[in-house]
Amino acid sequence: MKLETKRLILRNFKETDLNDFFEFMSSESTAKYEVFEPYSRDECQQKIKKFIGNDNYLAIELIDEHKVIGLFNFSEESYNSYEIGFDINEKYTRQGYATEAGEKVLEYIFFKLNARRITAGVTEGNIASCKLLEKLKFRLEGHFIEDVAFKKDIYDNPIYINSYYYALLKTEYEKNYK
Ligand SMILES: CC(C)(COP(=O)(O)OP(=O)(O)OC[C@H]1O[C@@H](n2cnc3c(N)ncnc32)[C@H](O)[C@@H]1OP(=O)(O)O)[C@@H](O)C(=O)NCCC(=O)NCCS
Repeated sequence: MKLETKRLILRNFKETDLNDFFEFMSSESTAKYEVFEPYSRDECQQKIKKFIGNDNYLAIELIDEHKVIGLFNFSEESYNSYEIGFDINEKYTRQGYATEAGEKVLEYIFFKLNARRITAGVTEGNIASCKLLEKLKFRLEGHFIEDVAFKKDIYDNPIYINSYYYALLKTEYEKNYK
């Protein structure tokens, strides 16, 4: 699978993406609000093996430099609903890449996969992610208090976090993106 925007190619992962993938998935800034801790090189290798051939995990590659600067993933939930997630290498943030990739992926999920609704969950405090979803015209649906615990403290106690949940319906997309 391959999608193209002005500056990016969204495509399946390849084994040779390991160095680029490791560069951003091993970083504290990527993992800060995510469900995972920074990945080791071995974990990156295992993930890439799982992602190869899986259209739900797309490498975000810069057309000009042929460098993978991010990951865009989505999963199908019930009732024609999809959940999305995204990570961009910190060195390449705030240049509109997630917006550009997101717009293309939304179009793909709504029209090729025929989704009715797309959702995204964000840890409270992740301003960049909230801004991105708002830019992509997602609607804030809820603020969940002590929603989940992705990580543990030094005493092995769960660290409960508050979350924001966003959604965008196909009907809204068709109105908003005209
Ligand atoms: C969230 C993330 C994907 C955004 O990627 P990005 O390529 O920087 O996003 P864009 O450049 O397309 O910016 C989208 C909007 O967010 C804003 N934004 C991005 N980073 C921001 C920040 N740190 N603080 C405030 N606003 C920010 C941009 O200004 C832009 O809004 P604007 O055009 O109205 O100014 C990136 O910061 C990231 O990977 N973070 C770490 C991993 C993560 O938390 N993933 C999401 C889990 S839910």
